[in-house]
This record gives sequence, C-alpha cells and structure tokens, in this order.
Amino acid sequence: MLQLEQVSKNFGGLPALSDVSFTVPKGKLTALIGPNGAGKSTLVNCVTGVLEPSSGKIYFQQQQLNNLPAHKISRLGISRTFQNLKIFPRLTVLDNILTGLTREGGDSMLLAMLRLPDLRHRERQLKLRALESLDRFGLADKANWPVGILAYGDKKRVELARATVGQPQLILLDEPVAGLNSEETAAVGQQLRLMRSSGHTMLLIEHDMDLVMDIADQVVVLDSGRCIATGTPDEIRRNPLVLEAYLGRMDATA
Ligand SMILES: Nc1ncnc2c1ncn2[C@@H]1O[C@H](COP(=O)(O)OP(=O)(O)OP(=O)(O)O)[C@@H](O)[C@H]1O
Ligand SMILES: [Mg+2]
Repeated sequence: MLQLEQVSKNFGGLPALSDVSFTVPKGKLTALIGPNGAGKSTLVNCVTGVLEPSSGKIYFQQQQLNNLPAHKISRLGISRTFQNLKIFPRLTVLDNILTGLTREGGDSMLLAMLRLPDLRHRERQLKLRALESLDRFGLADKANWPVGILAYGDKKRVELARATVGQPQLILLDEPVAGLNSEETAAVGQQLRLMRSSGHTMLLIEHDMDLVMDIADQVVVLDSGRCIATGTPDEIRRNPLVLEAYLGRMDATA
C-alpha cells in the first residue's frame, strides 16, 4: 500500500533520514520503532507532505506522492495523528471530529449551490458518522465540550477518532499512547486491534514495546535515520543489531 524507496531527508545538511526503504502491506499493522531522534516523525511528515524528502521516492498504491501538497495526499486516503497534538482547542469534540470528514464533505459547496436538501442530508449523515466514532472512542458524552478543557488522554482519543472517522486507507499514528496511563493505553491498544481486524492499514510509531510486540504484524527499526531491520516482532526481538541499537539502550536506561 505504501512504499518508500531510498528516502532521505536532510535538515541544514544534517541527515534525519538516510536511504530508508520499506513497504507497508495492505491490511497489516506495521510498527515503526527506534530511539529518540531516529527520524520516525520526519518519515511520517515526508509521507504526509508536511515535508518534502531531499531524495528518494514514496508511493501510495503505485501513485508517487513526492511533490504533492499535504491536502492532496490526505484526499488520497492517508490520515495521521501528531506526536504533539494538533487539535482545535476552541472547537467542540464533535466539530474536531467533523474536520476529519472534510474529504467526504468536499463537494458541499457545489451541492449547496445546486440542491440544498441534499446538502442538509449529507451534513446529517456526516454528523451521525462523527457521533458513532465518538461513541467508539468513549467520548460521546463529551461531544459538545470544547476540546481545550479535556484531560490529556481524552485529547489523544479525539485525535485518534478524527484520524479514523473518514475511513482512510492508510493511517499513520505518531505515538498515540504516549503520556497515557496503563488503562488508557490498553483501551487504545484494543481499539487498534479492532481497526486491524476490520482491515485497516496502519503505520504505528510507538515506544511502548509491549504494545508494539503484541499488536504489530511487521516491525521496521530506524536508528540515526537508517532502516536497520525489518521483520516480524519475533525476528526483531532476536535481531542483534536492534538489541544493540535500541532495546539494549532502553535496558541500559531502565
Ligand atoms: N524541522 C526540523 N528542523 C531541523 N531538524 C529537525 C527537524 N525535525 C526533526 N529534526 C531532527 O531530525 C532528527 C529526527 O527527528 P524526528 O523528530 O524525526 O525523530 P523521532 O524518531 O520522531 O524522535 P522521537 O522519538 O523523539 O519523537 C532529529 O535529530 C531532529 O532534531
Ligand atoms: Mg517523533
């Protein structure tokens, strides 16, 4: 579904990604792991058009994404969450979720000019979908709250709900459980499992190794901007390079 070919990204001459190549297979959950500063968020930013790779190619279902602006990439069916929440604090929870449905609402203006009843019907449908999504994430009772006053865990869930409500073909999740307590982490883990079993394709960046090893079909390991290993969770667990570069370092700091 997603294919990276020798993707590099430099910031002022310093490499954040160097010749990274891997594929994200359809219907699978691929975890992207690596120490702080390994280039994980940079990679998601390159895929979603927030950043332009310095070199290399990125394909989504055979279509090259290089040079496409972020809104066009989103319209192709790629959604994401951000490591540092990007939600609209003054909008209500429901309105935040509705912003995740702009792809479907894209022709509203045209409909508005042509046939108003259709537009109202469409709006009702979108609202219904947003409410269903809130229900799934346990946020239904807070639909009309401004997001700014929610607890951190709820804000993370609002972002997840927004990223998934439009039924995107590919979802990129940048540390969706960072900062959550173990109960909240388990709930999000369960949600990701459900999404995977319903056929969603996901790229999950996560430092929580228990979650990653439990949930991922495939793991890609970045270290200092390089892809040092790709494999099943079991293969990654036993890979000496990974142990050295990442898990070893984690143990050392534990
Ligand atoms: N906009 C930027 N300008 C300059 N350097 C950047 C920029 N974004 C990232 N970097 C640098 O690129 C490298 C990779 O950063 P990135 O945020 O992608 O790492 P990460 O793997 O997501 O780390 P973390 O686990 O801490 O989120 C780091 O050295 C970082 O300082
Ligand atoms: Mg990051």
